[in-house]
Amino acid sequence: MESTHHKSILITGGAGFIGSHLTRLFVIKYPDTRIVNLDKLTYAGNLENLKDIEKKDNYTFIKGDICDGDLLNKLFEQYAFDGVLHCAAESHVDRSITDPLAFVKTNVLGTATLLNVAKEYWKGHFEGKLFYHISTDEVYGTLGETGFFTEETPYDPRSPYSASKASSDHFVRAYYHTYGLPVIVSNCSNNYGPYHFPEKLIPLCINNIIHNKPLPIYGKGENVRDWLFVEDHVRAIDLIFHKGKAGETYNIGGHNEWKNIDIIRELCRQMDNKLGRAAGTSEKLITFVKDRAGHDLRYAIDPTKLSEELGWKPALQFEEGLARTIDWYLENGEWLNHVTSGNYQKYYEGMYGS
Ligand code: NAD
Ligand code: DAU
Repeated sequence: MESTHHKSILITGGAGFIGSHLTRLFVIKYPDTRIVNLDKLTYAGNLENLKDIEKKDNYTFIKGDICDGDLLNKLFEQYAFDGVLHCAAESHVDRSITDPLAFVKTNVLGTATLLNVAKEYWKGHFEGKLFYHISTDEVYGTLGETGFFTEETPYDPRSPYSASKASSDHFVRAYYHTYGLPVIVSNCSNNYGPYHFPEKLIPLCINNIIHNKPLPIYGKGENVRDWLFVEDHVRAIDLIFHKGKAGETYNIGGHNEWKNIDIIRELCRQMDNKLGRAAGTSEKLITFVKDRAGHDLRYAIDPTKLSEELGWKPALQFEEGLARTIDWYLENGEWLNHVTSGNYQKYYEGMYGS
């Protein structure tokens, strides 16, 4: 087992999609490290995502807000964190279009509050400490039909979500340059996999196929995203957290670009097969709807730095990852029913009508 210098780690947003996979990996892989998961449990946070590890001795859950500086101070005092894995965020682009200030609050103010508490608590003994900020490729803006985002690509965010993430990235780097706080930022492409909240394209369409509901495709479905299985993302974070260099940025992605329409066709094909429906049944559910405002055309990551410097590469082929994801949703109907009841219905009707 890999050793860790970080004996007490704060994970923020550990009850969300990526955060829950990250928390599970760290709790199981590093049994001698205390893992404290601080999560506000917004609509996107769900303790059911962590049922299998919630009783582990090295795991502690705290319900709270990263904007609450007093709480953060208390937690740093109590647990003497030497590492922070910062995942908590408002993460859905469409929600950022309807409520941008919620994104400024958590993503910008929350990140700055956390940075400040870490800087004050670690002041004078930065050695062996690390503030790791989990960010997105959306900060780089949009690509045309060719080219890739590298770590040198200038920031050009276009949605309130990506603008808030870009701002938080800038704050993280500012704390490195101004105060010497040891930080790392990684910018990852679109994740998919189990526990993905069904407001995002893939789980939303899985849920709708199960229920024979329309599959809403924005515009013409020509937008391209670069999809990575969530377990490959959290393995990359683990590697960077332990082997990456403070002050550096790492792009994470697996060269797996799909047009939205093509990925949904592939999803329909696999689901018809698994549900025993005639070929072509689910494709008939595809419905083209009004485009997202400011819809970025294409994202694609160049992960050369991460693969050459740290030896990371994705473990899973996409077809296999998608099959595992579909199987997980089919086997976890109860989880899906819980997260799609109540407020989800209101959100869905507001976004898509019915
Ligand atoms: P998510 O929306 O599934 O989870 C976010 C979690 O943060 C939830 O558990 C929520 O309760 C918690 N949270 C929100 N506001 C909080 C606050 N003020 N205080 C404490 N906790 C709060 O998000 P995700 O998709 O798992 O994304 C996690 C991180 O990874 C985000 O920073 C996101 O920008 C980044 N990211 C996501 C993707 C992706 O494809 N999902 C890709 C690249 C980067
Ligand atoms: O690139 C990384 C980002 O990926 C993360 O930073 C974000 O947190 C994450 O939500 C994701 O952003 P996207 O906007 O790319 O993901 P989403 O699943 O919302 O949409 C994927 C594509 O599908 C996008 O082009 C919009 C389109 N779409 C989405 C929904 C929800 C549809 O066509 N119909 C839909 O109903």
